[in-house]
Amino acid sequence: MGGTIGWGVVGAGWVARDYVGPGIAASANGRVVAACDLDPAALGAFLPDRDLERTTSLDALLARDDVDAVYVATPNDAHLGPVRAAAAAGKAVLCEKPVARTLAEAEALLGAAQAAGVPYGTAFDQRFHPAHVALRELIAGGALGTVTAVRIRYACWTGPDWSPDENPHDNWRADPERAGGGAFLDLAPHGLDLTQVLLDEPITDVAALLQRRVHDYAVDDGAALVGRTEGGALLNLSVAYNCPDTFPRRELEVVGTRGRALALNTMGQTPGGTLTLTDAEGGAAAVPFDGTASPFRLQVEAFADALLRGEPFAWSPAHDLHTMRLLDAALGEPSARVPAPPEAAPPVSA
Ligand SMILES: NC(=O)c1ccc[n+]([C@@H]2O[C@H](COP(=O)([O-])OP(=O)(O)OC[C@H]3O[C@@H](n4cnc5c(N)ncnc54)[C@H](O)[C@@H]3O)[C@@H](O)[C@H]2O)c1
Repeated sequence: MGGTIGWGVVGAGWVARDYVGPGIAASANGRVVAACDLDPAALGAFLPDRDLERTTSLDALLARDDVDAVYVATPNDAHLGPVRAAAAAGKAVLCEKPVARTLAEAEALLGAAQAAGVPYGTAFDQRFHPAHVALRELIAGGALGTVTAVRIRYACWTGPDWSPDENPHDNWRADPERAGGGAFLDLAPHGLDLTQVLLDEPITDVAALLQRRVHDYAVDDGAALVGRTEGGALLNLSVAYNCPDTFPRRELEVVGTRGRALALNTMGQTPGGTLTLTDAEGGAAAVPFDGTASPFRLQVEAFADALLRGEPFAWSPAHDLHTMRLLDAALGEPSARVPAPPEAAPPVSA
C-alpha cells in the first residue's frame, strides 16, 4: 500500500465533486487515482485539474492495483452494487450515508463487506467536524455533567427540482424507489449517528412522525424523531426538506446538569460554525476549534490512517447497522392517532 492510500471514487456527483474529491486531494495520506461515473459530464467536472483515470466502467476502476480504497458516493439505490463489487475485488470501502435504502439492503451491504473481510466505514463526515470533536471531548471530560438532552434541527429546502448548483440535476432524492425515503432517511441518520458519537453510547428507543406537507413528490419532506440513549439521555431531532435555506437550520444543542453546548452551522458538509458552552452559573464562552478544516478531508485521512496502520476504522459496521435499525424501528410502530375533534366539540367538563 505504501505511505499513501490510492482512492477510487465511484459516483462523481455533487458530494464527490464538491467535498469528497477536494478532501482526498488535500489529504495528507491519500490521492485519487480513478473516478467512475455513468455520466461522462460528471467525470469531467470531478477534480478537473487532476491527472486521474476517468471511466464509466466500475470493473476498470476495480482492476487497478493502485486503488486501495473505494469511496462510494452514488445515489442510495446504487450503494449496494458498487460496495459488493469493491469488496469482492478486495478493496477497502468507505460508503456514503445512509448505508442503504432499507434495513435489509443495509444488512446485505455490510454483510458483503464482512464476508469479503475488507475494511469498511460509513461516511458520516460530521463525526470529524472539529467543533463536534471538541464537543465530544467536553462531554467525555464531564464539562456538561450528566447529559440529559440533545436537540438537533437539521433542515434545508429540497424541492422537486432541487439542484446543488444552477444547472438542472437528476433529483433522485424525490424518488422513493431510488432514495428509499425523503428528509427522514437522508438527514435523520446524521442526527442519530452524531448523538451516539458525541455521547459515546447507543440510542436504544426511537419513534418518528413524518410529514408530506409542502413539496409535490412521493417522499416525506419533514420528520420529527424522538429517541432515548441506553443511559437515558433524550434526543429531539427535527429534519426537513421544506425549510427555507435562509432560516436557522443547522442547530445542535447538548444539555447537561453542569453545562449546555450549542453548535450552530456545524452540521453539514462545510467547515466553520460556532460552538458555545454555557455553564450552570450562566457564564458563556466560545469553544475554540479549527474553523477551516474540511470534515471530508479529516474523514478520509482517518480512514486512510486506519488502513495504513492495519487497524479497523473507528466506527464499526455494527455501529452503522444499529443506526439503520433505529431508522427502521422508528417507522415500524404506528403512532397513536387522536382524530381531530368535531367542529362543535363538547365543552370540557369542569
Ligand atoms: N455526507 C453528506 O453530507 C452528504 C451530502 C450529499 C450526499 N450524500 C450522499 O452521497 C450520495 C450521493 O449523493 P449526491 O448528492 O452526490 O448525488 P448526485 O446525484 O449529485 O451524484 C451521484 C452520482 O452518481 C452517479 N451514478 C449513479 N449510479 C451510478 C453507478 N451505478 N455507478 C457509478 N456512478 C453512478 C450519477 O451519475 C451521479 O453523477 C448519496 O448516498 C447521498 O446520501 C452525503
